[in-house]
Amino acid sequence: MAKKKVVKSSRSRGWRSASTSDRYELYELAVQGTEADCIFIDRVFRQRRNRSPHSLREDFCGTGLLAREWVTRRDSNTAVGVDLDQAVLRRGRERIATLPAAARSRIELKKGDVNEIRTAPADVLVALNFSYFIFRTRAQLLEFFINARMGVAAGGMIVIDAYGGSGSWATGEEERSLDGFTYVWHQARVSPITHDVTNHIHFRFPDGSEMRRAFTYVWRLWTLPEIKELLVEAGFRSPAVYWEGTERKSGEGNGVFKPSRLGEACEGWIVYIVAEN
Ligand SMILES: C[S@@+](CC[C@H](N)C(=O)[O-])C[C@H]1O[C@@H](n2cnc3c(N)ncnc32)[C@H](O)[C@@H]1O
Repeated sequence: MAKKKVVKSSRSRGWRSASTSDRYELYELAVQGTEADCIFIDRVFRQRRNRSPHSLREDFCGTGLLAREWVTRRDSNTAVGVDLDQAVLRRGRERIATLPAAARSRIELKKGDVNEIRTAPADVLVALNFSYFIFRTRAQLLEFFINARMGVAAGGMIVIDAYGGSGSWATGEEERSLDGFTYVWHQARVSPITHDVTNHIHFRFPDGSEMRRAFTYVWRLWTLPEIKELLVEAGFRSPAVYWEGTERKSGEGNGVFKPSRLGEACEGWIVYIVAEN
């Protein structure tokens, strides 16, 4: 789970270890697929609005990788990232400092709670990699969507994601071998009664070292109908689930997400959900 990206190795394996690695860098490499996210956002916005989006707010931005990708895509693009964690924002700002000056002037990372901070309404507000699953009651998730809507311009959109499938109800580990390290998604606790889940990310290295519990998430595993209903309660319109197509040969996801009403009962899926303001 939490995987959207196949990393192509340009260096020989075995060059990383737990003590020399930065967990935020490994997270970006293993989990985030921001180029694909931006292409998706552009395509859906153009389809629905007949123009390109320019301003983006990234909630739960972490290091702001998506916001950075966004401002480098078009000279007219601007981005605001919001996160609570000063340490992760510092890391993000260090990366922003390496962008060309023109792009640097169009991005800002703000420290704050997504439910409290007020920003100029954006064409698109994104909250990806299931970050909003931290809200574990209906009232809390509704509050988040209501606050998020205040950050979206009239005619703008919210873009979030969700995961599920039969495998999301099982405990256990799933490994993926990447560029000099192994990414481990560990579903440690799953409650069928509360839908509360505890997931960890571990990183393992060729020298046998491990960064255990590099990240831990205590979430509610929300279902798609619940999310769509709460988006509408918060005032968003036309929530739609974008389901990933399947590569015929491998049976794996093909990275192409299209609106779907029914989906498919498979072991693991990740979707985008888009709703309009
Ligand atoms: C899973 S990371 C998401 C990183 C990145 N956006 C991504 O797509 O992978 C979740 C982030 O949400 C932040 N966070 C948690 N609660 C928050 C809140 N109420 N307001 C703002 N940020 C919050 C954490 O500090 C953490 O950096």
